Amino acid sequence: MVRQYILRYSKERERVLDPFGGSGVTAIEAFLENRTGIQNDINPLANFIAEGIVNLAEGEITDYKAALITLRETCQKKLDELYESPDDLIPRFRRGLKMPENVLLPRNSDVRQYRELFTERQLTALALLRHAIDRIQNPFAKGGMLLAWSATLAKLNRTFLSAEGRAESRGGSSIFSIYRYKIAKEPVDLPAWRTFEERARNVLVAKVEIDKLIEVKRRTSGWFGGFETYEKDIDDLVAQLKEKVDYIFTDPPYGGHISYLDLSTLWNCWLGRLPSAEARQRELIVGGGLDIKESAYVKRLGKSITSCLDMLKPGRWLSVVFQHWNTAYFYAILSSAAESGADLRAAVPQVGDTIWSMHKKKGNESVLAGELILTFQKIGKRREFSQGKTLDVGKVLYEILSSENSAVLYGEHLFNRMIIAAWTSGAIGSLNITKQEFNDIIKQHGWLYDVDKHYWVRNRHVSLFTSVTN
Ligand SMILES: C[S@@+](CC[C@H](N)C(=O)[O-])C[C@H]1O[C@@H](n2cnc3c(N)ncnc32)[C@H](O)[C@@H]1O
Repeated sequence: MVRQYILRYSKERERVLDPFGGSGVTAIEAFLENRTGIQNDINPLANFIAEGIVNLAEGEITDYKAALITLRETCQKKLDELYESPDDLIPRFRRGLKMPENVLLPRNSDVRQYRELFTERQLTALALLRHAIDRIQNPFAKGGMLLAWSATLAKLNRTFLSAEGRAESRGGSSIFSIYRYKIAKEPVDLPAWRTFEERARNVLVAKVEIDKLIEVKRRTSGWFGGFETYEKDIDDLVAQLKEKVDYIFTDPPYGGHISYLDLSTLWNCWLGRLPSAEARQRELIVGGGLDIKESAYVKRLGKSITSCLDMLKPGRWLSVVFQHWNTAYFYAILSSAAESGADLRAAVPQVGDTIWSMHKKKGNESVLAGELILTFQKIGKRREFSQGKTLDVGKVLYEILSSENSAVLYGEHLFNRMIIAAWTSGAIGSLNITKQEFNDIIKQHGWLYDVDKHYWVRNRHVSLFTSVTN
C-alpha cells in the first residue's frame, strides 16, 4: 500500500521522506523504487532497523553466508554447553565478555534495572553471540548478523510470553502486547543458537530478495536508489530539509499511551544507542515517563504537519496516515495543513484487511483499527478556513449510512466519512461525539455489531450471522 502511494505521488530519482519513519517502511520502499528514501526518527532503534535492512543491499550473499558459518563454528557448541550447564557454572562462560549498561527502566516495569530483564543464561548467551558478531570482518555481513541478533534479543528475555497452544518459540514480548516490561510468570528459555540461526536465515532471505529487486531495476530502467537517515525531532529536521523533499508519506504517533522510546530500551541499551534526555522530552506522545499532557500532544501534532509542509517543495504532496476517536486530533492535522497552504485532496480509509489490535480482537466496537490516509497538496496559498459551524451528527451519519450500498460496514469507515463531512462543511471545530453516542446512532438506524467480524451489519442480514450481538 505504501509503495502504491510512493509510485502515485513521486517519480524516479525524487526524494521521499518519512519524518516519523519507524522501522523504515516508507524510506525502504522508496529506495527500492529508485527514489532517495529519507528516513527520520527520534528513536535510535527505528533507524538501526531501517538502516540494517537497507544495508542488506550492500556486499555479497556469499560473505553473509560465510559470516553465519563462522558464527556457527565459534558459538553453537559453546551455547549448547551453556544451556546444559547448571546455574552455578554460568559465570565461567562470561569471562572476557562485555555486558550491557545496567540502566534504570521505566517506573511501570516489573523490574528496576536493565539486566534484570534477562536470566543469567540469556544474558550470557546474547553477550557471547554479540562478541562473535563484533569480530566479523565484512562490515555488511556484520550488519546483517547484528540485525538478526537484535531480533534474537526480542525472544531471549524474561518478558517473552509463549503464545497459548502453539510451539514454545511462538509468541512475543509483553512490550508488544501490553506496552510495558512485564516479567513472564513462567519464563521460557528458548535455545539461543537455534533462535539466532532462524533469524539469521531470515536476514539471508531478505538479502536475496533485495538483491533481486535491485538487479531487475538495474537491467530495466537502471538503478538509482538512495538512502539518507536522520535522528532528529521532526521540527528540527526542517532546518536541513527545507523545500528539499518531493513527497512525504508518514504515520505519526497516535498519542496513545505507547512510549516507543521507553519500550525500545530493551534494544537501544545493548546497542549502545540510548536516546538523549532531550530526545525523550521531544517524543510525540501522551503520557509516557514524562507524563506529557494530551493538549501538548495535539499542539505538537499540528506543528509537525506545518514542519512537513515546510520541507516539501511547492506543488508537491503529503500523505498522513491517522486514526483516533478524538476529533481534536483531526482538527489539528486538517487546520494546520490549511493554514500552511495545503489543500486536502484525498481521504482514503484503510479497512477490511487490517491486523487488528489486541483490544479490537476482544470484539469491542469502540476500538478503531483501520486508518485514514489524508493526502494534501502544497498549493502555497494559505487557506482561510472557518470551522465554526455546527453539525447535526445524527443526520450526517444517517445520510452516510443511506448512501452506502454494502450490507456490512466498518465503524472506522463511517467515522472517517463523518470526519471528512464535518471538515468540508466547516464544522469539525464543533464536532464532539463520544464513542457511545456514535455507536448508538448507528444502532438506532438498524445496524448491529458483529463481534467476530468487527463490522456493522444491516439489520435485515442479521439472520445470516450466528454471532451478532445486539
Ligand atoms: C506510528 S510510528 C511510525 C511507524 C512506521 N510507519 C513503521 O512502519 O514502522 C511513529 C514514530 O514516530 C517517532 N517519533 C515520535 N516522536 C517523534 C518526534 N518528535 N520526531 C521524530 N520522530 C518521532 C516514534 O519513535 C515512532 O517510531
